[in-house]
Amino acid sequence: MDSKLSGAELASQLKGQLNSNMKFNGISGIDDESLHLSEEDIKWWRDAKFGLFVHWGVYSLLGRGEWTYFNDKLNEEYYRNLAKNDFKPNRSAEEIMDGWTTAAVEAGMKYAVMVTRHHDGYALWDSQCSYKDFTSVRCGSGEDYVKAFTDACREKGLYTGLYYSPMDWRFDGYFHPKENPENALLMKKQGYRQIEELCSHYGKIDILWYDGGWLAHQGTDYDSAWLWEPIKLNKMVRSYNPKCMVTPRSGYKGDFECDEGPHEIKGKIVPIPWEKNMSLTEHWAYVEHDRSWTFEYIIRMLVNAVGRDGNLLLNMAPDRNGNIPENSLSILRMIGEWLKMYGESIYGTRAGVFEPVDDVYVSTQKKNSVYIHILDCRQFDQLMLPGIDRKIISAEILNGEKLDFKQKKAGTKIRLSEFAFRNHAVDTIVKLTLKSDNMSRHRHRSQERNKEQQKRGNP
Ligand code: GLC
Repeated sequence: MDSKLSGAELASQLKGQLNSNMKFNGISGIDDESLHLSEEDIKWWRDAKFGLFVHWGVYSLLGRGEWTYFNDKLNEEYYRNLAKNDFKPNRSAEEIMDGWTTAAVEAGMKYAVMVTRHHDGYALWDSQCSYKDFTSVRCGSGEDYVKAFTDACREKGLYTGLYYSPMDWRFDGYFHPKENPENALLMKKQGYRQIEELCSHYGKIDILWYDGGWLAHQGTDYDSAWLWEPIKLNKMVRSYNPKCMVTPRSGYKGDFECDEGPHEIKGKIVPIPWEKNMSLTEHWAYVEHDRSWTFEYIIRMLVNAVGRDGNLLLNMAPDRNGNIPENSLSILRMIGEWLKMYGESIYGTRAGVFEPVDDVYVSTQKKNSVYIHILDCRQFDQLMLPGIDRKIISAEILNGEKLDFKQKKAGTKIRLSEFAFRNHAVDTIVKLTLKSDNMSRHRHRSQERNKEQQKRGNP
């Protein structure tokens, strides 16, 4: 699918991407050691691998994507009336959130991130400090969707994430922060107070997914830190949620990087925590009959992310009633079925021991198992896996037959069976079981043992 985005919307996507040198465009964010989380703190997220993202709001009524208010230069009064009169789903907040979280669980997702307020300023909770009371409770259905969402996540055992955009198109100070500083400060105040509400009214929040910490659609989120003061902001967040993970889009460098958009993932294992975020459909928010990526494309994306130590956050675009379109649901279910069979090679793994070979294979590992995710059997068949310092005890198709292999110091050749070739679908997974010791340690130990025996005079 070619992207039809242009202008500021495209720029917003591009600034959050992994570039061709495997560097994140915004890696140089503002830092503060007191905000750092340890590897142990984020272990749950590293293990989880797969999460649900949902874009849903007043824009879902118009069916032209979440940037409609800005792109179509809609009148504020018109948009407000739309919310007031038409943001009235035919199902309760509980039913809607039960639907989203059930879909996430069925897809094998372990966490969920809901857009609580996008750049249009519409808050999907009972916010007491929304500029002009632009909330679903006071200007729409009367429901608190953040409450229903956080409750449903906890009931279903999903880690809970909230997306929040500090910037708000309704403020002139967003577009002209230098010319209209008072208005920019008003927007900032709204941001701080709303974030405080999200962090203190809805129990433990595991991820605060900031987006849009920039100003006037220009520069990076870090260039706007003079206004947002992201260190101060995130200290406040952590005072309520000490281990809450945050994206880099508040200006603080954050706990993980984002690679945004549906382009494929290539290159080596990424040495920092990162997440691929993309929409299953062409747009982030509801568009009738929107084109969708296929099941195969998403599995490849998941495997390519996990094989480079990343997560996949996959977005859904519910309709005006909060229903995830049937076509998306059926793809989610297929992914869930796949993960039921092959989840051991995904969840709780880390990338490696082999570096990925683009479009051919990636590998993941857990304890004494290494999983080779083969994306192209024919090309794989021409290759030898690089040498490793541990003895391979067995090779088998995951949940299937044993395979022949030859391990030498220089590398390992795995002979794929006819069956693997014939049944090669989206990802053929070969499980290697390794001896727990590495070979040099093993060699070292047996040398020690020999010396001992010689000392004792044994043969
Ligand atoms: C892009 C879009 C924005 C969307 C975000 C999700 O930045 O412009 O609308 O919410 O991606 O990551």
